[in-house]
Amino acid sequence: MVTSVVLLGAGGHARVVHDVVTLNGLSVVAIADKKNNNLELSWAQVPIVSDQELLEQFSPDSIVLVNGIGSIGSLELRKKIYLQFKKQHYHFTQTIHPRSIVSRDTVLGEGVQVMAGAIIQAGSRVLENTIINTKASIDHDCTIGPHVHIAPGVTLSGGVRIDEGSHIGVGATIIQGIQIGKNCVIGAGAVVIHDVPNNTKVIGVPAKEV
Ligand SMILES: CC(C)(COP(=O)(O)OP(=O)(O)OC[C@H]1O[C@@H](n2cnc3c(N)ncnc32)[C@H](O)[C@@H]1OP(=O)(O)O)[C@@H](O)C(=O)NCCC(=O)NCCS
Repeated sequence: MVTSVVLLGAGGHARVVHDVVTLNGLSVVAIADKKNNNLELSWAQVPIVSDQELLEQFSPDSIVLVNGIGSIGSLELRKKIYLQFKKQHYHFTQTIHPRSIVSRDTVLGEGVQVMAGAIIQAGSRVLENTIINTKASIDHDCTIGPHVHIAPGVTLSGGVRIDEGSHIGVGATIIQGIQIGKNCVIGAGAVVIHDVPNNTKVIGVPAKEV
């Protein structure tokens, strides 16, 4: 098993996933970031490399990748970088905090990240490159598509479906059986009681389109 990790990104989300990676006994050997000139991190003393240096110095079978890019404004960059390195045959390891609760009756895709205190209940599926952030609660039989961000403190009731590229804002609640389309944004604290079509932003209680 490969235990050397290269972390993509050096921002806030990267710092949190770095912590989980090391808690799980893996070793971060480098961080890839665009702003690599003179970048010094208080939380990781490893070389900072450009994407090109990553490709030259680390072959796909010598390391695994962890996506440290969060969703500042959009999930597009996180998705783009994931797909770019997949094309080059790199593998993204899952990052599961040891103090999250994940039912054995779940399916988690490549590179899925489950942060501290998050709960994923039986029958749920979480697809590739998706983040289940701090203390989010995913109840039974939910399906969460690829490249989704479930922000801290979100509550999904049973049987919710969230499609590719959607961002569920911090503290939002989605009632049972609701379907959220692709590339939607659910505002922080929203309570969603109706389905949300693709490319729609909703806020408030109950949530309404803006
Ligand atoms: C919904 C959201 C994306 C809107 O962002 P935006 O398009 O930049 O909107 P603005 O900040 O310009 O606000 C527009 C209006 O919506 C209101 N608004 C914004 N977010 C709101 C929310 N979550 N709930 C209720 N009202 C909200 C603002 O007060 C403002 O109202 P006004 O026009 O009467 O002054 C953003 O506020 C949000 O909730 N993001 C989620 C953050 C998150 O999950 N972070 C997790 C990081 S790990």
